Amino acid sequence: MLLAQLTDTHIRRPGTRAYGVVDTAHFLEAAVAHILALSPRPDAVIVTGDLTDFDDAAEYARFSALTAALPMPLFPIPGNHDSSAGLLAAFPQIAARCAGARVNYVVDDAPLRLVMLDSTVPGRPHGTLGEAGLAFLDRVLAEGRERPTLVAAHHPPFHTGIRHMDVQNLQDAAALEQVLRRHPQVLGFTCGHVHRAVTTSFAGIAATIAPAPAHAVSLALDPAAPPSFHMEPPSLSLHLFTDGRLVTHRSFIGTFSGPHPFFGADGKAIRG
Ligand SMILES: [Fe+2]
Repeated sequence: MLLAQLTDTHIRRPGTRAYGVVDTAHFLEAAVAHILALSPRPDAVIVTGDLTDFDDAAEYARFSALTAALPMPLFPIPGNHDSSAGLLAAFPQIAARCAGARVNYVVDDAPLRLVMLDSTVPGRPHGTLGEAGLAFLDRVLAEGRERPTLVAAHHPPFHTGIRHMDVQNLQDAAALEQVLRRHPQVLGFTCGHVHRAVTTSFAGIAATIAPAPAHAVSLALDPAAPPSFHMEPPSLSLHLFTDGRLVTHRSFIGTFSGPHPFFGADGKAIRG
C-alpha cells in the first residue's frame, strides 16, 4: 500500500498570493500532476491541514477543483489556517465519517489503518487534541489491536528547533504519547505545520513532518531568528507500507534529469 501525503497547501482565492508571494494554487496543481504521474499510483492521499489560507469557502472550493483529477480517495484534516466546521462543510464525505464537530475519523478499509485527528484550536495557531480527541484515539486503537496503523494530525507533538514554530506545536503531546504507548500496532505518526521534511521518534515510533508542495518554513535554528519562509524545492511524503513497516520517502515535485541507467545493454555497469 502506498500513501501520498500532501500538507499545508494554503490555497487562496484566485488572483491572490500567500504572503503576497506564493501562488499556492500553481504549486498544488504541480503536486497533483506529480501524484498522477507516479507509478504505481498511491492508493490514497492524506492532507494534514492548512488546505486553505483563511478557511474561506471559496478556498476550499478551489482546493477541491485543483485536486478533482485525483482518482484515489482524499482524506483531509484541518490545520490552524482551516477550521473543523469549514473543512466538514467543504467535504461532506468526510463529515459522514465524523461523529461530532471535530474532524476525528478512521480509514479502515485498507491494509494500513489510518487514524486522522483534529488538532485545531479555534482562532489559535497552536494545537491540542483535547480530552475528547485523545479518548477517541484510545478507543479506536483499542478496537483495532491487530491492525497496523498510521496516526495523523496537523501539529507536531515535538520540537523541531525552529523556535517560532515550536511555540505553536501540539500542546497535549505528553497525553498523546501515553495513548500511543498503549497501542503497539501504531507504526508511525505524521503531521504537517512546519512545511519541512523532519524525522524523529515519538512515543517509541517513527514520527515525520511532511514537507510542503509550496513554501518552506526557513530552516532557522537560531532561536532569535524571525519567522520567515524560503521557496525550497517542493515535495511531498510517500509512505510505503511494506513487510509490516512504514517506509517514508520524500518525493520532489518537478522535472529533473533522468532516469539514467546504471547498466548498459551488455548488462555491465556503465563506466563512462
Ligand atoms: Fe501551514
